[in-house]
Amino acid sequence: MEKVELGWDDFWAEIFRVRHRRAIQGIEQFDQLLVSFVIEALSLKKGAEILDIASGAGAHSIEFAKKGFKVTAFDLAQSLIDVAKQRAIDEKVEVNFFAGDMRDMSFESQFNAAVLLSHSFGFFNHEENKLVLKGVFDALQDGGCLLLDLMNPYNLPTFQKTWTQLEGGFLLNEPHVLDAPAGVLTGRPAMFIDTENDRIVLMDQDALSNNDIRMYTALEIREMLQGVGFTKVELYGQHYLPRLPYAANSERMVVIAHR
Ligand SMILES: C[S@@+](CC[C@H](N)C(=O)[O-])C[C@H]1O[C@@H](n2cnc3c(N)ncnc32)[C@H](O)[C@@H]1O
Repeated sequence: MEKVELGWDDFWAEIFRVRHRRAIQGIEQFDQLLVSFVIEALSLKKGAEILDIASGAGAHSIEFAKKGFKVTAFDLAQSLIDVAKQRAIDEKVEVNFFAGDMRDMSFESQFNAAVLLSHSFGFFNHEENKLVLKGVFDALQDGGCLLLDLMNPYNLPTFQKTWTQLEGGFLLNEPHVLDAPAGVLTGRPAMFIDTENDRIVLMDQDALSNNDIRMYTALEIREMLQGVGFTKVELYGQHYLPRLPYAANSERMVVIAHR
């Protein structure tokens, strides 16, 4: 079998965020639970403007739009924005799409709410991660809120090596490893057996180096949020209703920050 290496946009975006996500049983129902949680936790009223940062293939943006919100979906991967645009057309909803880097957002006092879902925070070094929060703060109106849906650093999932059947092949997913001294959850190489094209697809250096996540504790996140101007910070322990207090053994660490 031929072996090819693909970059982050092709490998990660298409294989993980589109094909692998689609293969997760119950994901659509789960997306609906998450969206309902966000609406209640942020007390969002119909017509409110939401910025979905790192929106991926658009599942949550489209769900918010169906519920009557004005949504802007923002993601680095043009391939994912294209998939999401087509989905919005198919589902007959309007969503504004932006392809860009969350470190360079230039929205000003526009949104009632911003969300980063499915642990889409901590992809960069500490200074750049703070820059992302500053960009979100600037994008919100006074009184607006940010919701970060994060893994709980004190109760990480047990990552396992998995083989999953996807459209067009099989994905071997190596488990993440926590580099404890660095506080970084390190992504591992994955491999896709592309049965349609009779080839093995590997991640190139670009795809591999974009795979690490800096994990923050609640105290650190609070300090960063307050450092860029957010006032009140709340924490919850799961990303569906009912709202549970955050604890060491919580499933998630959901952070809500008010501007
Ligand atoms: C874990 S996925 C989450 C996607 C989506 N929110 C969801 O819940 O399915 C992370 C997303 O972050 C996007 N991303 C990675 N780096 C980014 C950056 N620098 N700026 C904007 N988006 C980025 C990826 O393209 C990917 O869609």
